[in-house]
Amino acid sequence: MCGIVGYVGRSMDDTALDVVMEGLARLEYRGYDSAGVALVTEDGVETAKRAGKLENLRSELSAHPLAVARTGIGHTRWATHGGPTDGNAHPHRGGEGGRLALIHNGIIENFHALKKELEAAGAEFESETDTEVAAQLVGREYDRLGDLTEAMRVVVGRLEGAFTLLAVHADSPGVVVGARRNSPLVVGLGDGENFLGSDVAAFIGHTRHAVELGQDQIVTITPDGHTVIGFDGSPAQGKGYEVTWDASAAEKGGYDTFMEKEIHEQPHAVGDTLLGRTKDDGELVLDELRISEDRLRQVDRITVVACGTAAYAGMVAKYAIEHWTRIPVEVSLAHEFRYCDPIVDDRTLVVSISQSGETMDTLMAVKHATELGALTLSICNTHGSTIPRESDAVLYTHAGPEIAVASTKAFLAQITACYVLGLYLAQLRGETYADDAKAVMNELREMPDKVEDLLGRMGRVIEMAEFMADSRAVLFLGRHVGFPVAMEGALKLKELAYIHAEGFAAGELKHGPIALIEPGQPVFVVVPSPDTPHELHKKVVSNIQEIRARGARTIVIAHDGDDDVLPFASEVIRIPQCPPMLAPLLAVVPLQVFALHLATAKGLDVDQPRNLAKSVTVE
Ligand code: AGP
Repeated sequence: MCGIVGYVGRSMDDTALDVVMEGLARLEYRGYDSAGVALVTEDGVETAKRAGKLENLRSELSAHPLAVARTGIGHTRWATHGGPTDGNAHPHRGGEGGRLALIHNGIIENFHALKKELEAAGAEFESETDTEVAAQLVGREYDRLGDLTEAMRVVVGRLEGAFTLLAVHADSPGVVVGARRNSPLVVGLGDGENFLGSDVAAFIGHTRHAVELGQDQIVTITPDGHTVIGFDGSPAQGKGYEVTWDASAAEKGGYDTFMEKEIHEQPHAVGDTLLGRTKDDGELVLDELRISEDRLRQVDRITVVACGTAAYAGMVAKYAIEHWTRIPVEVSLAHEFRYCDPIVDDRTLVVSISQSGETMDTLMAVKHATELGALTLSICNTHGSTIPRESDAVLYTHAGPEIAVASTKAFLAQITACYVLGLYLAQLRGETYADDAKAVMNELREMPDKVEDLLGRMGRVIEMAEFMADSRAVLFLGRHVGFPVAMEGALKLKELAYIHAEGFAAGELKHGPIALIEPGQPVFVVVPSPDTPHELHKKVVSNIQEIRARGARTIVIAHDGDDDVLPFASEVIRIPQCPPMLAPLLAVVPLQVFALHLATAKGLDVDQPRNLAKSVTVE
């Protein structure tokens, strides 16, 4: 939530504004209800800010250009305290004459008390935000101390909650100071210029040399370098790394939307996540895990913590990992985990799944698991992000940057990583299904081509999405690994098309939800492969019959060659044949495409749906 950019260079020209605006454009997915910039010019700090998308800020800057500068900060906001208005947009001012400007991501939990204290000392506030409290505090400390880094250090010691703060001051040209606690901030190292960003997308157009900051650290950038200290003032160092993707990976590449592009990148997301996981003889190796094999062998329970789409990947993981390893797996929504008195001990492996690696609910669940003594493993798509850093081990997905708010390729990559983890544990523990690991890995390697094949067959799905644009409610049914797919199909439609959509376990239908069925009600049914054990396929075909008999419009997702569904299907969407356990990698694709095109037909912004943000960095 909220995108943050900071820049310092040597030239006094438009570069600072250009770099900041370019960074904001790349970070807009993080929050887009208002945007603003502050530049340190020869006349002091100049700011511009506007409610609404970045385009509104661009218009404002064209109408009222700012003076040239070599230092700047910029912010795109996802509102927490105070509505999305011009006045609440960042930056906020502080200090004598408002000579300091500050931007913020996160929530300052004790801002009420601090605000009262400032008001008692005569301060006046222009916004309803918690951020302005930090701006006024840092401004006052600067007036007292004359040093921006030290002013920031004194103030962060008084703040509670999660935050990234960036500040500039009129009297410190060529300096941007940032601080982070439980909220992301990375440094970009250039030649005679340096950058700060919520993630590397902020500066990927300029440098791939990045520095990851630790928890509770303050960084000061100048054109010549960067210095890091802890909140206690002790010298510290970030961890340098090279970003492995370039700016083109974060652009639309000829597609109308990021979401469409990312849907089409799914074969690569799956393929790349499988790369380098096996030796020549087929044995799985997860070198990056950083946990000893002995420790993993002792695991007797797995709890997956995640939110939204990532939690549905976790539900798929439950079926796969339990089947392959016989270790009980529980899936807990990360925001519930802390409050349900979880049964966790040192033999529990807590697996967090997160695209961004910054989701606050998931981060807090991981921290809680650590406090309880569990072993923690992060499945994550973003190098250098907080959740992997806070975990004992990490298994990176390789989906590349996911910009669209609706998660697509990260979901497939997460499921793939969960399969790899399950197979690795099975191999390690020599469980019943360990011998199958190599065979399943071979089947998994065929999945990218199958996803590619499926993406070429989406014509009818797009037509359906267009003529169903007026639908008021859509239901999704699935069983076994098709159940999380149904949930994900419903989530995609809710978040993109603002249509009431529900996913159910098909077997649950007759226990209540079947009352929703009335003539013409569209129902997607994810049908398991006919090879699924326990006659599950037959049972789902019966479920289709039951709803069809009550007038539902049945849109059936079935494997090639499965003709049993034909008599009861209003529409059939075919997916390539594959092993039952791997089917989510295919079955979800038509549901993503359906939601994308239905939302597009309604004229909605699919990359930035209302009220949402890509990384939910507040609890
Ligand atoms: C899905 O389309 C959403 N963007 C959302 O449910 C997302 O999956 C969830 O917020 C978790 O995000 P994370 O993977 O970055 O932790």
